[in-house]
Amino acid sequence: MSNIKELIKEIDSLKPIPQIAQQVIRLAEDPNSNMGEIADVITYDPMVTANLLKACNSAYFGLPRTVESVQEAVTLVGLEQIVDLVILKGGSENLKKQQQGYGHNEGDLWRQAVSCALIARELAEKKGVAQKQLIFTAALVKDIGKSVLDRFVADSYSKIEKLVEEKGYSFMEAEKAVIGINHAELGGFIAKKWKFSDKMTYIIQNHHMQDESAHGDLATAIVYLADMVCMMLGIGGGSDGLAYRFYRDILKNMEITELDLQEIIAGFGDKMKSVEELIQNV
Ligand SMILES: [Fe+2]
Repeated sequence: MSNIKELIKEIDSLKPIPQIAQQVIRLAEDPNSNMGEIADVITYDPMVTANLLKACNSAYFGLPRTVESVQEAVTLVGLEQIVDLVILKGGSENLKKQQQGYGHNEGDLWRQAVSCALIARELAEKKGVAQKQLIFTAALVKDIGKSVLDRFVADSYSKIEKLVEEKGYSFMEAEKAVIGINHAELGGFIAKKWKFSDKMTYIIQNHHMQDESAHGDLATAIVYLADMVCMMLGIGGGSDGLAYRFYRDILKNMEITELDLQEIIAGFGDKMKSVEELIQNV
C-alpha cells in the first residue's frame, strides 16, 4: 500500500500535457465545436506553429512543396491531421525517455505510442467510428502509467519476470501482483488528475482489456487491437514484449478478420520508414 501512495505522489513529477494540446483535445472531442475554432487555437501559438510546420514538412506527408503557414498546412495536410500533430507533440515529453524497467531505450515507447495512434486511427476509419480523435489520443497516451511505474518495475523486475515465465502471468498481472497496481490502472489515475474525459480515462484504464466488461466497447477495442498490431510488428517491444493476453473474441465482436489484420500489418510495415521521419520531427 505504501507503494501505491508513493506512486500516486510520483504522478506530480510528470510533465503535464501542455495547455494548448489539452485545449485542442477538448475541442476535438466536443461535438459542438468546429474545426475553425481548433485552427484558431493553434494559429496563435508560435511554438506549436513552428513545430507543426516542421512535422508537416517531414517525409511522412511527402508534400510537393514546403509548407510555410498553418493555413497552408490545413489546406495541404487537412485539419484532422494537424490536430493529430498538436496532440502528438503534447504527448511526446513523457514518452520519449528511456524506461529501464520495461527495457525501452530512449524513443522506443514514443515510437510505439505514435505507431499505435496511427494504426488506431486507421482502424477507426475502417470501422466508421465518429470519435477518431479521441481514439487517436487515447492510443497515444495509453501507456503513460509506465512513465511512473518504470522505476518500481525495475526494482522488482526479477519477481515480475518469474511470475511471467514460470507461472504464466501476463506482464500486467505480474505488475499488479508484485507492485499492487498495473500500468493501465495507474494511467487511469494520471488521466483523472489531468482532467481527461471519462471516456479517455476509461480507454487508458482498460487498454489491455483485463476486465472482460470492456471487450464490447468499440473505442477501447480499437486501441487494444492497434496495440496488439504494434506488438506483432515488434514496434517498441521491451521486456514486456508479447507478454500480454490476446482475446480472439474482440476481433470477432469488431468483425475484423485475421486477413484484415494481416493487411493492416503489411500496410503499416511499408509505412514505417516515413513514420520514423515523423517521429523525429514531432
Ligand atoms: Fe500498455
